Amino acid sequence: MSRYHETYARWKTDPMGFWAETARAIDWIKPWHEVYARKEGLDRWFVGAECNTCWNAVDRHVKAGHGDRLAVIHDSAITGAKATYTYAQLLDEVAALAAVLEDLGIRKGDRVILYMPMVPEALFAMLACARLGAIHSVVFGGFAPPELATRINDAKPKAILTASCGIEPGRVIAYKPLLDQALDIAAHKVESCVVLQRPQVTAELKSGRDHDWADLLAVARGHGRRADCVAVKATDPLYILYTSGTTGQPKGVVRDNGGHMVALKWSMDAIYGIKPGEVYWAASDVGWVVGHSYIVYAPLLHGATTIVFEGKPVGTPDPGTFWRIVSEYKVAALFTAPTAFRAIKKEDPEGNFIRKYDLSSLRTLFLAGERADPDTVKWAETQLKVPVIDHWWQTETGWSIAANPVGLGMLPVKHGSPTVAMPGYDIQVLDEGGHEVKRGTLGAICVKLPLPPSCLPTLWGNDERFRKSYLSHFPGYYETADAGYMDEDGYLYIMARTDDIINVAGHRLSTGGMEEVLAGHPSVAECAVIGIADALKGQVPLGLVVLKSGVTKPAADIEKECVGLVREKIGAVAALRTVAVVPRLPKTRSGKILRGTMRKIADK
Ligand code: COA
Ligand code: AMP
Repeated sequence: MSRYHETYARWKTDPMGFWAETARAIDWIKPWHEVYARKEGLDRWFVGAECNTCWNAVDRHVKAGHGDRLAVIHDSAITGAKATYTYAQLLDEVAALAAVLEDLGIRKGDRVILYMPMVPEALFAMLACARLGAIHSVVFGGFAPPELATRINDAKPKAILTASCGIEPGRVIAYKPLLDQALDIAAHKVESCVVLQRPQVTAELKSGRDHDWADLLAVARGHGRRADCVAVKATDPLYILYTSGTTGQPKGVVRDNGGHMVALKWSMDAIYGIKPGEVYWAASDVGWVVGHSYIVYAPLLHGATTIVFEGKPVGTPDPGTFWRIVSEYKVAALFTAPTAFRAIKKEDPEGNFIRKYDLSSLRTLFLAGERADPDTVKWAETQLKVPVIDHWWQTETGWSIAANPVGLGMLPVKHGSPTVAMPGYDIQVLDEGGHEVKRGTLGAICVKLPLPPSCLPTLWGNDERFRKSYLSHFPGYYETADAGYMDEDGYLYIMARTDDIINVAGHRLSTGGMEEVLAGHPSVAECAVIGIADALKGQVPLGLVVLKSGVTKPAADIEKECVGLVREKIGAVAALRTVAVVPRLPKTRSGKILRGTMRKIADK
């Protein structure tokens, strides 16, 4: 029998009591005087409390006598590098790096941008910021310099931590030249850059501003420097994570310290069914929210072991890589995006690589980031012979809005549905007038306010954009911008975005942002970018451009230049491979481009 229904009912009857009780799993420096308060229309959790996220993720486990337990496993399927860190070793790394940041003048509330590949130092850096109460903002390594510059201008960091390179299959990407370009474009001036030199590329350091990571660490260690945890308010920001909005200007999602810890710690047990000491692997990237929540914070807050994996599900070197990792490190739960499974299924349809490995440790596979198509789910269930759990969430929430809570006892799986609302979320499907629709009817999926702990309290430096983007369309509700329906059993079905966000290989991208780039091409008069269905990536962007009159350049050249421009301005991750010159774009009488109609035609 699942304890889900009783747990959800307990939350609904006494939400504040539920969260106050759940919060007992966290070490607080000072208790809250209000579990929840709405200040100027914005939700705040654990008001008055003081805490430190790094303490809860690292120090407390060492203090409790678990210093020898494995905290972090690094495995690069690309370079062959492997490393492990116990909680005691993690504490040593983080406290020393935090001392380095302190020596660079980083203090509580300062912002630090991290532009890092999947190396353990990325985690050390996030935790070192948390230790000092500094606010980190991780920028995904696949973003191009203009995207990095936009984030630098918005977050105004005092320092940037980076590595000399990221490594993609068959391609080493030198990060420092990209960072230098971004710093040249950005209006905000950064005081220090700290560069982790990887063996594949040695970055050139500019005097004054740039520092060698290992050198600074050696100096700090030489002086016996270790930074202590700084008390921060539960409501102080832990990080800013930029995510695609409807324009080229990304939204700086703010995550607070207190509520985030409470929700994530609860989720490890209740949703993922993981016990402290077990190995939990989120095969994502620290640049995305899944990486923040489930590579770094949740497993460590829970005292579990996390895996930092550098590689791809296929081609590094084969579609058996995931299974090698699961068997080698005895992974109990794997969390990834459906696209990774589609990639594996394409290369290993019979599951021959799966049978090469002992996967007896694996209890559950979790999927999120995009719609889990029933074919892929069925294939994974048949091949792995473990439950395959789809769950739905967003950068804005930091944890599941809907899931099948394995730890509370699994509910029956319905293919195509991420199952039911988690405690904290009163999910309602609304019509345009803001009225709840009948079960089974498509509508806008909304969450009745307040949002639970961990959800964004605001957008960085822009309360107004936060209210306008999420709270204004349906007063009293948070608008998820996902459309779908709920069935008679309360199971949700997430069908489509209601805005111009597309989901490419589990990566959230703005077609509006791509249109802004295409519109900047000197020969382009107008353009549209739409997401079209793709068997591997779920969706891929397609660009359609109308040329200015009198343009004589061959269309094929312009199409190629447009593809290059998006790669240069947004990054390879945008995966815009097709741009077509067209004579006209279909429009309404009032001149609005009919993107929805084009999408339907393309998908047929
Ligand atoms: N740094 C630099 N470039 C990057 C990058 C990074 N961190 N990540 C991706 N890119 C580049 C890729 O090299 C590729 O470049 P190319 O156009 O020159 O080939 C481009 O961005 C697109 O990358 P990707 O979307 O990853 O496509 P792919 O064809 O290389 O791989 C998959 C396809 C399905 C295997 C891959 O997308 C995947 O593993 N997806 C899982 C996604 C995921 O975990 N999402 C997190 C949410 S849970
Ligand atoms: P991100 O903020 O990058 O996590 O992307 C969030 C968006 O991805 C959501 O708004 C959905 O559109 C989509 N998404 C995430 N998880 C799922 C899921 N399990 N099913 C359907 N869509 C999902």
